[in-house]
Amino acid sequence: MGKKDSFYITTAIHYANAGPHIGHTYEGVLADIIARYKRGQGVSTFFLSGTDEHGDKILRTAQKNGEEPQIFVNENVQKFKDLYKKIQISNDYFIRTTDKEKHWPGAIKLWEEIEEKGDIYVATYKGLYCVGCEDFLTEKKLVDGKCPYHDAKPEEIEEENFFFRLSKYSDQLKKLIESDEIKIMPESKKNEMLAIIENGLEDVSFSRPEREILWGIPVPNGTNQTIYVWCDALANYISALGYGTDKDELLKKFWPADVHIVGKDIVRFHALLWPAMLLSAGLPLPKNIWVHGFLTSGGRKMSKSIGNVVEPMEYIDAYGADALRYYLAREISPFDDGDFTKERFIEVYNANLANGLGNLVSRTLKMTEQYFAGQIERSLSVDIPLRLKRETISGFEALDGNSIPHIISQKILPEYKSKMEDFDIQQSTDSVWGLIGLLDGYIAEYEPFKLIKTDKDKTENILWNVLYGLHFVSLMIEPIMPSTASKIKDLLGTTLKDNEPISFQTKEIKEPLFKRIETLK
Ligand code: MSP
Repeated sequence: MGKKDSFYITTAIHYANAGPHIGHTYEGVLADIIARYKRGQGVSTFFLSGTDEHGDKILRTAQKNGEEPQIFVNENVQKFKDLYKKIQISNDYFIRTTDKEKHWPGAIKLWEEIEEKGDIYVATYKGLYCVGCEDFLTEKKLVDGKCPYHDAKPEEIEEENFFFRLSKYSDQLKKLIESDEIKIMPESKKNEMLAIIENGLEDVSFSRPEREILWGIPVPNGTNQTIYVWCDALANYISALGYGTDKDELLKKFWPADVHIVGKDIVRFHALLWPAMLLSAGLPLPKNIWVHGFLTSGGRKMSKSIGNVVEPMEYIDAYGADALRYYLAREISPFDDGDFTKERFIEVYNANLANGLGNLVSRTLKMTEQYFAGQIERSLSVDIPLRLKRETISGFEALDGNSIPHIISQKILPEYKSKMEDFDIQQSTDSVWGLIGLLDGYIAEYEPFKLIKTDKDKTENILWNVLYGLHFVSLMIEPIMPSTASKIKDLLGTTLKDNEPISFQTKEIKEPLFKRIETLK
């Protein structure tokens, strides 16, 4: 199974014990930006997301709500799908682990392959189980006797289960991670995984006894056990491509994954357990594991009792999907924890969307409309250099004396692309806003609104340069803010012809791209 010229990106599948929160939204947006970027580069891309619907956590929550688990998850899954649609997440498929046709055959086949290798055995296990993590925890991991992620006491469990020989793969995993054959980003998480291997990997409980109702995929061959929810869930990355069925063209085309995006609490499952399962089954390994941080609200973990939970839908409804996508892309490091506050959201919205981008687009279009009836055509490239004062815009001093097209092709675009290739969405977004700042500076420098009185021809050249810059802004923000990108494209009326510079037939702007948020001071 080898693949060429394709790109496969996944999010974690989200627990369907509730609707989506801002952390899920963040992960979906990160993956969506990279998927859209890759498609824009002409790469055949498959973007997978979905929901994790089995396990005790979900069963118990459904029971607490007095609902049938299947009905309960169906309701929550719909909330994920609604959110994805609203925030324009362009996943190619949405996998559900309760899907008996699409997912189960793959999960069962994977189990069987691993069993065939002799990597599954029966043993009795006694341990502390955290239902929130769906994982056994060691004493060392507990803080004040509680799971640090779920702030809950684990349950003592003694069971006869099937076990997976994870320990057998220690040396192989160590080599693969050290050499970056499985690249874990950021480096700190790679080191964390190497330290876990160094401390000794234990075999993993791979099944759970059947509950009062069957809620999970039965272990093949008629035992009264269900496949451990993490084994079931991890299999989604291949079942969604047709593994375990005879329709596996996608698997051939897209597997192995180019990147699995996951939060910092579930790295171990993706960097150790999952590759070991694949090694056992003789399948190729994912190339990158991109670990993002956790979003806090006002510096604290989000919790209903503190009342600081950020509701993604509220922001989308009030300010638009693109505004939320912008905040997540630009304000949060894709490799570290980040904070979300309404104050900061409003501040950057006003500064960088209403003023920065929005204002630049309206000013430029208004001048083009007023002075040139919306039409600017050049038959030659217009080389009016930037003469910015050194202190005007930081980071671009070295480019004094260069034209806008030159700066875009030599600095902005290469920077933007190389950061996207490194999954550093925050820095590629910075490059775009670097260009926006530069175009603002260019207008300030040449003052076309004054120049029009004395030199119409030069004014036209100046505006051509700004429109040219905006054309590239619209291209670069497509992955980040797809609706805004298409609105700008439409307003610019760009014509591209071979071997000719770009011309514009602009439209009148009816309403600002981003209305300022007025705050009561
Ligand atoms: N179902 C498992 C994943 C199985 S993947 C084979 C799971 N689900 S989850 O719903 O709890 O989390 C889904 C993703 O959201 C994880 O990558 C998790 O790290 C991420 N996040 C959960 N809370 C988060 C924040 N507060 N901030 C950012 N991401 C967070 O784990």
